[in-house]
Amino acid sequence: MEENFYEGSIVLLEGAIANINAKLDIIRKYRLINGKQDPISHIVSRVKSEESMKEKLKRKGFEVTLENALTKVYDAAGMRIICNYIDDVYEVAEMLKHYQDLKVVKEKDYIKNPKPNGYRSYHIIFELSLDLAGEITPVYVEIQIRTIAMDFWSSLEHEMKYKKNVKNPELIVEELRRCADEIATTDLNMQTIKKMIDARGDDE
Ligand code: GTP
Ligand code: MG
Repeated sequence: MEENFYEGSIVLLEGAIANINAKLDIIRKYRLINGKQDPISHIVSRVKSEESMKEKLKRKGFEVTLENALTKVYDAAGMRIICNYIDDVYEVAEMLKHYQDLKVVKEKDYIKNPKPNGYRSYHIIFELSLDLAGEITPVYVEIQIRTIAMDFWSSLEHEMKYKKNVKNPELIVEELRRCADEIATTDLNMQTIKKMIDARGDDE
């Protein structure tokens, strides 16, 4: 499995994910004790498979080496944080950015600026320095934060991209684009309704 390719560095990649998971755990509990709701629905994480890593390095024109996998591409360690509401996406992103040991390497707001195909998500690449017996090693983690609806959309779109010989690709692309816009509207409406429900509670 991956261990062959990543060698001992698998410990760093898994360690970085565990570290960020611990931070997210605090964020969630902090919200709950303050009488608010958990901003996160669920979290998925993975170390990129050896096969996809090798494919990506080749595609980007890098030599297939462990060194390049850890320093030239930033998603050997990846986490996806799924939220109920759009506001939660931004709040979780802000809270993570406040941690002094997480340095933002790259940030892309595909919610404010969706991709032409309709893809929406908030991406941050963090650099986390892990201390291994006095040796400081930077580890990169790609974090995608999005709503349940955006996640639903992107898994279907991803499925289409990797299927060969799909019938009517133009129609599917167009329909996906339309659904992405509908989802964006629905996400906003759900957020507004949620705020209305919460505001009513304050009066009582
Ligand atoms: P790469 O990591 O080489 O893709 O760099 P990039 O600069 O293109 O990064 P970007 O932030 O655009 O994408 C990173 C990851 O987000 C991808 O590996 C996918 O997991 C996800 N992603 C980006 N665009 C799309 C999209 O159009 N559809 C879906 N389903 N996922 C996407
Ligand atoms: Mg990409």
